Amino acid sequence: MSSFPTWYFDESQIVGIDFEDIAQVETFDCKQTSSAPEIEQVLVKRLGISSGHTIIDLGAGTGTFAIQAALKGASVHAIDISRSMLAYAQQKARKMGATTIKFHRDGFLTYKHNDDLADFVITKAALHILPDFWKMVALMRVSSMLKPNGILYLRDVIFSFPISQYEASIDEWIEHSSKPEGEGWTVKDYQIHMREEHSTFAWIIEGMLTRAGFEITQANYLTPTAAEYVCIKTA
Ligand SMILES: C[S@@+](CC[C@H](N)C(=O)[O-])C[C@H]1O[C@@H](n2cnc3c(N)ncnc32)[C@H](O)[C@@H]1O
Repeated sequence: MSSFPTWYFDESQIVGIDFEDIAQVETFDCKQTSSAPEIEQVLVKRLGISSGHTIIDLGAGTGTFAIQAALKGASVHAIDISRSMLAYAQQKARKMGATTIKFHRDGFLTYKHNDDLADFVITKAALHILPDFWKMVALMRVSSMLKPNGILYLRDVIFSFPISQYEASIDEWIEHSSKPEGEGWTVKDYQIHMREEHSTFAWIIEGMLTRAGFEITQANYLTPTAAEYVCIKTA
């Protein structure tokens, strides 16, 4: 029986791009160039992930980051709500010889961590799927999964353009980032993202991180529509 109240957010209702769709899953790695293996390898090194560390990857997708962390000897929990994504990631991990990953079909708001507290929680391009109230709940849950002084790495579509320029900024983002069909994320994908998903402003995310008990040690505004944070659990 579920231990969550009846008013709890239903993570199984897919919004935005449908990552249960096999066609989406199979083309994901070609489209998501920000998660290429060499980029994830650099991130693993930059965060200092190594053998003996416990890592949780929330919204792990096709598992590229989880695989690179596992190949460094870390023990990884790869969490994703999509069965298709998880199946694909599992197959990829097998092929790559990444044997220290446990896969869990769960979400930000439902995953219960029953292992050693984590040294690192990673979440990339996924938190935006939740409305802001539930992002805050998710970040408090993340904090409870981490050791004292554990690290949260968050990267997502996060807006740092001046609020008054929202229309031009979003138009510019879509125009410059979209690719023709078959070559990457299309105009239609970006429009779905804006209409149906819940990306928000940097100042909102930063307020939430602080209130969830994190100190932000690095904030990088990669573009006006993407940011990454390295945070330490202090409370
Ligand atoms: C854009 S992909 C990002 C995958 C990967 N983190 C990366 O950087 O390439 C977003 C992932 O979040 C997953 N997802 C969607 N809602 C979720 C939820 N509530 N909890 C956990 N994962 C979720 C999707 O199934 C998808 O695999």
